[in-house]
Amino acid sequence: MPTQHTRARSESHADPHGDVALHVDEAAIEAAKSHTDDGVVTPAYGPWRNDIVRLLNDALATELTCVLRYRRHHFTAQGVASPKIAEEFLVHANEELAHADRLAERIVQLGGEPDFRPESLPERSHSDYDDAANLNEMIRNNLVAERVAIEAYRQMVALVGSKDPTTRRLLEEILAVEEEHADELRDWLGR
Ligand SMILES: [Fe+2]
Ligand SMILES: [Fe+2]
Repeated sequence: MPTQHTRARSESHADPHGDVALHVDEAAIEAAKSHTDDGVVTPAYGPWRNDIVRLLNDALATELTCVLRYRRHHFTAQGVASPKIAEEFLVHANEELAHADRLAERIVQLGGEPDFRPESLPERSHSDYDDAANLNEMIRNNLVAERVAIEAYRQMVALVGSKDPTTRRLLEEILAVEEEHADELRDWLGR
């Protein structure tokens, strides 16, 4: 016996004028009751899980590389010219580490394996490690790395789209922080 609600919906479904176009996929909701071992990944998640996990692992490699670069800059810039910028590098390093943690957590939620292998970090990371000794060079190279991260996250947000709203929101939140980082570094360059 259909409820008032489902009857109204099936009638509107048959509406030749298509006045009501927003329907949830009842079969997909029913299918979500099975495969409980998959945790957050429902059967209708689609064929994208492996691709999204791969994108997230590339982002994880990028963040880990940024942690190493900023931490080295923090310790080597200290006492050279500006203690303030050295502190800024440490703040960024810690924020990149928080990004790495959130990405790894999401990879595990999706049933994937977070890849922390150090030997393949340089190939997998979008941005580069940096050995600069000069403070201005450090700032400039960090700005380049942030711009690379911004472009990579912007593309990932577009690729994930509506396939996985939670992952997209995570990527958007990280993207906003990378934009703040780039903005701060550009200000430092102008000093
Ligand atoms: Fe980051
Ligand atoms: Fe950043």
